[in-house]
Amino acid sequence: RVYDVVVAGSVNADLVVRVDRRPGAGETVLGSDLVTHPGGKGANQAVAAARLGGRVAFLGRAGTDGHGDFVRETLRGDGVDIGHLITTPGANGVALITVDPSGDNSIIVSPGANAKVTEQDVAAARPLFADAAVVSLQLEIPLDAVVAAARTADEEGARVVFNLSPAADVPDELIALCDPLVVNEHEAAFLGDTRPAGLLARGARSVVITRGADGAVVADASGVTEVPSPRVDVVDTTGAGDAFTGALCLRLARGDDLPTAARLAARVGAAAVRRAGAQSSFPTLEEL
Ligand code: RIB
Ligand code: NA
Repeated sequence: RVYDVVVAGSVNADLVVRVDRRPGAGETVLGSDLVTHPGGKGANQAVAAARLGGRVAFLGRAGTDGHGDFVRETLRGDGVDIGHLITTPGANGVALITVDPSGDNSIIVSPGANAKVTEQDVAAARPLFADAAVVSLQLEIPLDAVVAAARTADEEGARVVFNLSPAADVPDELIALCDPLVVNEHEAAFLGDTRPAGLLARGARSVVITRGADGAVVADASGVTEVPSPRVDVVDTTGAGDAFTGALCLRLARGDDLPTAARLAARVGAAAVRRAGAQSSFPTLEEL
């Protein structure tokens, strides 16, 4: 297959301010200088896989404002094939992010062009899915496009990795195509079960539950495996889950079994929390 990983998803400009504490309603606080980083859960996963040497393509929509130009350039700079990144009149996706002294973040996403990804975009890209070993999906583009992408990937013999983020209700058909379904503990709770067995019972072919500094739990037909995470000093956790998932996709594409892929992915996720930003913090294979 031509591509290790094809991502159908979101691409944002992340507008980041560090704060001592977050403002409450009606309150104003002063923060750091604004920094603009490339982000978006889809683009983050694509870049994480590309930094590790993966052949990666991205399907999505970017706007015609300066943020759109910025994200197109950064994806291209990381060697991601953007032949299916459609330029869409209007605003690019933007994420408003605050990072507190402990490195935790709060994020508001304004979808912009991401909201205009359609089932037709997916249909037009069917040959791309046929060229992919793994197709990576998240929930920052419309659900019908995500479902169409999962269905198309499955029909074309690609393995579907789905990250239920941000958490939302999805059809059982989508869960049943996941191999694995990737969730953090909040997203697992949203699905009504934080145990891998419970999530497998929802119909997923395999499951990965990420637990931040506590590593991950993976489960498939062959059993449940706990995967540790290396201890690191936390600077900024933004995008660490995306780094994990992008790395997981690449290693699955290269033939690792799920626990082996998750062990490498946990190291990549840990590396990502040691530096500021999402993509700007993701390691190359050498750095790892
Ligand atoms: O998962 C982190 C990402 O979520 C950020 O890059 C931001 O763009 C939002 O999509
Ligand atoms: Na980071």
